[in-house]
Amino acid sequence: MSQFQIEGGTQLSGELSVQGAKNSVLPILAATLLNRDETVLLGCPHLRDVDASVEILQSLGCGAQWEGNSLAVNTAGLNKSTISDRLMREMRSSAIFLGAILARCGEAELSYPGGCELGPRPIDLHLAGLRTLGAEIREEGGILHCKARHLKGCTVVLSMPSVGATENLMLAACGAEGTTSIVNAAREPEILDLQNYLAACGVPIKGAGSSAITVVGGKRLHKCTYSIMPDRIAAATYLCAVASAGGEARLLRAQEEHLATVTAVLRESGCSIVSDDEGLVCRRTEKLRAVHPVRTAPYPGFPTDAQAILMAALLKSDGATVFEENIFSDRYRHVDELTRMGGNIRVAGRVAVVMGADRLRGAKVRATDLRGGAALCVAALAAEGLTQVEEIHHIERGYEDLVRDFTLLGAQIFRTGE
Ligand code: EPZ
Repeated sequence: MSQFQIEGGTQLSGELSVQGAKNSVLPILAATLLNRDETVLLGCPHLRDVDASVEILQSLGCGAQWEGNSLAVNTAGLNKSTISDRLMREMRSSAIFLGAILARCGEAELSYPGGCELGPRPIDLHLAGLRTLGAEIREEGGILHCKARHLKGCTVVLSMPSVGATENLMLAACGAEGTTSIVNAAREPEILDLQNYLAACGVPIKGAGSSAITVVGGKRLHKCTYSIMPDRIAAATYLCAVASAGGEARLLRAQEEHLATVTAVLRESGCSIVSDDEGLVCRRTEKLRAVHPVRTAPYPGFPTDAQAILMAALLKSDGATVFEENIFSDRYRHVDELTRMGGNIRVAGRVAVVMGADRLRGAKVRATDLRGGAALCVAALAAEGLTQVEEIHHIERGYEDLVRDFTLLGAQIFRTGE
């Protein structure tokens, strides 16, 4: 297995260009199944989860060709509507393929996506919405047997603004007869990116970014070249890296309007963040202050994916910060590892309280999940001595090259192992 070795104590200074967004490219890769012509995705990040999605597309008979960060997908050879259990377990968000396969093929067979490190990851809202559109879905022995000979557009109301369910329904609606309205839709920027891709292919769709999305189904999608939006959570990670280590960094392509709740908290803690038309410049020179309670919520609330990395940045701040994790049931797995580095954190259910520590010490720690692993790297920048981060395959699911990016910002980090 590989590890990251991080020598803490260096103030950051540098510039990087933020990678393409993992949580945008994954649903868009599923959406390419709706397009019988070629799709070329620009600014596509090389991630384990993208590799898993490409493997799924190829297992269905599609072609996928990389050229740098451009990925060309051709679905003309699609000859299957079944995804193997192995591939479904590779990546939790593989459920996102269901809506697109049903819209294209009229049937689908896939196993329940595995849970993950964040706790159970149910898809009941996905299935309920697809059934409302007319899909027949039989669940037997962990396998979903789905038929949708005739999806019919209608109004689908989500009981909660699930990102994945919203995306699955947008894709299924493209294959439904007539118009579909999705009510109480998730409002994340990645949903708008998916809409923009579908619109670029010729789908009459509108409303993404609001809680009401309308799709006119039955249109033939045409050839499209589309640029993936920058990854706002990767950008949040680098902002928190500067907050943690001190110094200054310029993050090209970072868009403040997608990060307003994160930049607000970092400014409250004492960081200076300036937004210009190229991106964001973050500076931290003084000791950070504790901030008002941080409550995670669906967009535009504070993103659950930034909870662990902000916690890591505040480990040496003055005072106590209360976190409340309201999206996932098991998203404090990074706390024990941060404690090994000297973090002073108390967890009670959904609440975690971070008391500022005078110093952090480098330690051997292990990544428990994608963002928890990134949090360990953020904390290591402020620790005295060497931190070894193990199980970094979790981190490589969502960060194209953390060693490259942290090194560009002036951090002392390198990778060991195979
Ligand atoms: C997406 O996951 C993201 N993943 C997650 O990012 C992100 O944390 C999450 O949205 C929230 O913003 C991708 O986009 C690939 P949800 P998703 O459906 O779609 C419950 C990362 O680190 N729920 O909005 O799975 C669910 O259990 C990852 O990049 C149901 O109960 O999120 C969770 O508690 C982690 N039934 C909550 O809703 C359902 O049918 C939010 O889930 C669906 C979801």
